Amino acid sequence: MAVRPYIVGNWKMNGTRSMLSEARSIDRAAERLIKVEVALAPPFTLIHATRKEAGLIGVGAQDCHAAEGGAHTGDISAAMLKDSGAGFVIVGHSERRANHGEKDADVKAKALSVLAAGMSVIVCVGETEDQRDVGKAESVVARQLKASLPEGEVVAEKVTVAYEPVWAIGTGRTPTVDDVSAMHRSIRQVLIGFYGEEAGAKVRILYGGSVKAENAAELLGADDVGGALVGGASLTADGFLGIVAVAAEMQES
Ligand code: 13P
Repeated sequence: MAVRPYIVGNWKMNGTRSMLSEARSIDRAAERLIKVEVALAPPFTLIHATRKEAGLIGVGAQDCHAAEGGAHTGDISAAMLKDSGAGFVIVGHSERRANHGEKDADVKAKALSVLAAGMSVIVCVGETEDQRDVGKAESVVARQLKASLPEGEVVAEKVTVAYEPVWAIGTGRTPTVDDVSAMHRSIRQVLIGFYGEEAGAKVRILYGGSVKAENAAELLGADDVGGALVGGASLTADGFLGIVAVAAEMQES
């Protein structure tokens, strides 16, 4: 596992102010678990309040618009997110790709706008079940990466990749450890090809899809897994901290 694993909770379209107590509990526990980098991506409406309630953990957003501003009713720019307290933005989540028709080029434009606003970015990729069944998982993910990642003068520390097999999200199903290892090794090769040996080696690769405390050790122990992007299990402090505790224990052992 990475030197300091990165465990990120994606609250998706969940959470009203009553859930801030969960963020507070997570933040308090993070103080003790300094070997793990912990972050939450609440819905837009809670970013500012979460930042105020939780001073230690990272706080980020789940999406943004690629433009700096203008006539885009209902959209939120990267600069607005930064202003509300976000330090990172998740882009290209498969739910955005599926529900909002986002293509790799859109994801890349969003990622560039996040970096331009001075935040870090988590770029999500992952294959569908059909694509895995026909043996195309690695090629699909490689293609998504090459078309979605921001290139150029990118500081590698500002880019994180999240590998989330679409069929494992919210289903309770996970790939085998061997499959996760093979995919993460393959992603690393793409990153090295894309950013060069040194910068490509620095990009963290998270696994996401049905991670919970019970399977965290196995999934985080796969080759080149730098942390986890957690959906359902991040909605309660208990569920999320169970995963963070596993990551912390793995650092100590
Ligand atoms: P689940 O952990 O609920 O499967 O969601 C994963 C995910 O999509 C995180 O972004």
